[in-house]
Amino acid sequence: MPVKDPHSYADLSQGLIKHIDFEISVDFETRILAIRAEYILVEPVSGAFYLDTRDLDIERVYSGDTELEWTLSESNENLGQRLQLQNLEKIQGFTIDLRTSPAAEALQWMTPQQTLGGEHPFLYSQCQAISARSIFPCQDTPAVRFTYAASVTVSKPLTAMMAAEAVGSQQDENANTFQFKMPQPIPSYLFALVVGNLAFQEMGPRTGVYAEPEQLEAAAYEFAENEEKLVEAEKLFGPYKWDRYDLLILPPSFPYGGMENPRLTFLTPMSIRGNRLHTDIVSHELAHAWTGNLVTNATWEHAWLNEGWTTYAEKRISEVLYGQDHIQITNYIARVSMFDVMEHVITDPKFTCLRTHLEGVSPDEGFTLVSYTKGYTFLALVEQAVGREAFDVFIQKYINAFAFQSLTTEEFIDFMRAELPSVFDLVNVQEWLYEPGFPESAPEIQSRQVDEVEAVSDNYRQDTLPTKEIVKDWDWLQKLIFLRTLPATISIEDCRYFEDLFALDEDTYPPLLREFYKVCIRSGYEQIYPQVKALFSATGRLAVIMPVFRTMLATEWTQALARPLFEEMREGYHPHTVAVFERFLKDAGM
Ligand code: BES
Ligand code: ZN
Repeated sequence: MPVKDPHSYADLSQGLIKHIDFEISVDFETRILAIRAEYILVEPVSGAFYLDTRDLDIERVYSGDTELEWTLSESNENLGQRLQLQNLEKIQGFTIDLRTSPAAEALQWMTPQQTLGGEHPFLYSQCQAISARSIFPCQDTPAVRFTYAASVTVSKPLTAMMAAEAVGSQQDENANTFQFKMPQPIPSYLFALVVGNLAFQEMGPRTGVYAEPEQLEAAAYEFAENEEKLVEAEKLFGPYKWDRYDLLILPPSFPYGGMENPRLTFLTPMSIRGNRLHTDIVSHELAHAWTGNLVTNATWEHAWLNEGWTTYAEKRISEVLYGQDHIQITNYIARVSMFDVMEHVITDPKFTCLRTHLEGVSPDEGFTLVSYTKGYTFLALVEQAVGREAFDVFIQKYINAFAFQSLTTEEFIDFMRAELPSVFDLVNVQEWLYEPGFPESAPEIQSRQVDEVEAVSDNYRQDTLPTKEIVKDWDWLQKLIFLRTLPATISIEDCRYFEDLFALDEDTYPPLLREFYKVCIRSGYEQIYPQVKALFSATGRLAVIMPVFRTMLATEWTQALARPLFEEMREGYHPHTVAVFERFLKDAGM
């Protein structure tokens, strides 16, 4: 029996999509994708067949020469509309002609002015968790996998890329057409498309990078370690099953640090600093090739199986490349951030459980840092309990057993009971997976670098300001921790002092600025506001801007500035980002 996914209308007992052939034509004038999608099912289907859609203009549904009956349900805020094909008679395939909406949740259409080059428009998709349905009708649940082929037509001189294998291209007078093939079956949320003025540079035999030409060289320098990461990851998790591992550098409005689209990780440009210091995101997205893309959560109620496992896998790659100190300090930050989210963002303690229940709740609301940090910590604890050697054997068995499948938390527990039974005597599995909060049995974090910062922070609380000499060797993570451990409000004088101490007026790394601006806003340092605004136009990464925005909503002098700030930025943001802002403003009664 397939599990019931609360975020999909699909009824998997009716049948399953096996393959889709897409013909996609991209129109920047109208901001519409015109799509012909030809579906092949695993077995012939009779009666009804349900698909997820959102804001799609369905033109025709047919099988060969036969028109099929179909209806669309009322729209549900979380789920969109159900497309119901009716009175099917042993049909193993059908075709749908459709158009996307200019406001499709998965797509950001950008003007040339919003790109680096400034000359060509840009389009990219972001389908996780349930936005694929705003591009094409699908069984939009991670429990269903399909292969696909696609032919994408764009106006000249643009290039299209997909998270798939590029197999050919043609050009005529006005248009370029690109062909893709995705031979490995994927869940719908890993469907991905990008169109723009894109160039490619190879970095290693299986690794390369796509970016606007202006940024290509810098990107190839920054991520030159990717091939090595791939090799290390294979030692830990087994052979890489997706052939190539390329990166796509997106415009700054990309709402995430990275998105693990298979073969082609989508990445924020924020990581490109010329110092190779901010590539943890790549380790994370690469790790998803095993934990997430190969072994997939059955529904978003089991998201920790994707994100907790991937955070664990990311740390194992980082440990090889950057050593234990890096792991400890980043663990510390992750834990502090998770406590902050548990305390200030999550409104219902049930969302602090790893296994969540999300009936009637949007997947975004149920998805927090908890699945990353608590999930990771649980796995690190299991590793500690059974020993690394035994756990490494388990990891590879787990990945092999569930490759190209999806599973629930309960199936994971059953597998662990069969393969690593001793865990259940050593770790309170029930508490970690099913109970709210953060268990006391979490391994302690030991970091000399964190201790150093905490000592300076304690001194500050006793009225001793740190000198330049004291902080001169701190890396950016230490600065970030210091800013986070400051009292909720400090004097404006001290805000200025820290701005100078850490040269924050010259630093442009958004996650560090985020921490500083939060302190400044709470402390009433009004002169900082133009810089705060600049951060919102510099990046659309939710993890950077939302904490600052929340601080604005919670602080008197900035409350009334929040709505105008958002209105000023909205044009440049991804539709998902706009929706998140609207939700926060609504919750704050603005
Ligand atoms: N798959 C996520 C991004 C995501 C999560 C997209 C939820 C849509 C809904 C990706 O793997 C991720 O976790 N990105 C992190 C990076 C990171 C190093 C933790 C991000 O974007 O911050
Ligand atoms: Zn992830």
